[in-house]
Amino acid sequence: MKSEHLLEEFNKQIKYELESAYLYFAMEAYFHAENFSGMAQWMRVQTQEELAHAAKFFDFLITSNSRVELAELSGPRKDWKSPLDVFKAVYKHEQFVTSRINELYQLAQSENDYPAVVLLQWFITEQVEEEANALKIVEDLERMGDSGHGLFLIDRELGTRIYMPPATAE
Ligand code: FEO
Repeated sequence: MKSEHLLEEFNKQIKYELESAYLYFAMEAYFHAENFSGMAQWMRVQTQEELAHAAKFFDFLITSNSRVELAELSGPRKDWKSPLDVFKAVYKHEQFVTSRINELYQLAQSENDYPAVVLLQWFITEQVEEEANALKIVEDLERMGDSGHGLFLIDRELGTRIYMPPATAE
């Protein structure tokens, strides 16, 4: 990688992706404690996706013969009021990640780092999906209100999520 600034930002992004995984692990623990095993499963898949995101940045730096510098991770939030509260936090978090990816994309373009641009294009598409998934669940939960039966159905549906590793070579 030619640009020291971009290299720093990519290393920082590894930390953000790992902190995302840590956050979703915390949310999984919350759902287990509240006996929502389907939502817990959804969070486990989300954690696996974040670890794969971190690995994508990590592998990109290794492949481009650049320095990986792992930073200290911040602890995640641990308590939420309700499943809706959790998924609102997921949506907000993914919006933050999207803004980070957009910043990295602009930086990579300004530095004429084309391999980094290609990598970040994958993440831009991924973030559209990440936000849409979270928003859909927020909307479903809002529609259900306090209905125990509704929560039961959503929990069952979210429990069907399975992890699909991202395609290689990006
Ligand atoms: Fe790696 Fe959910 O963004």
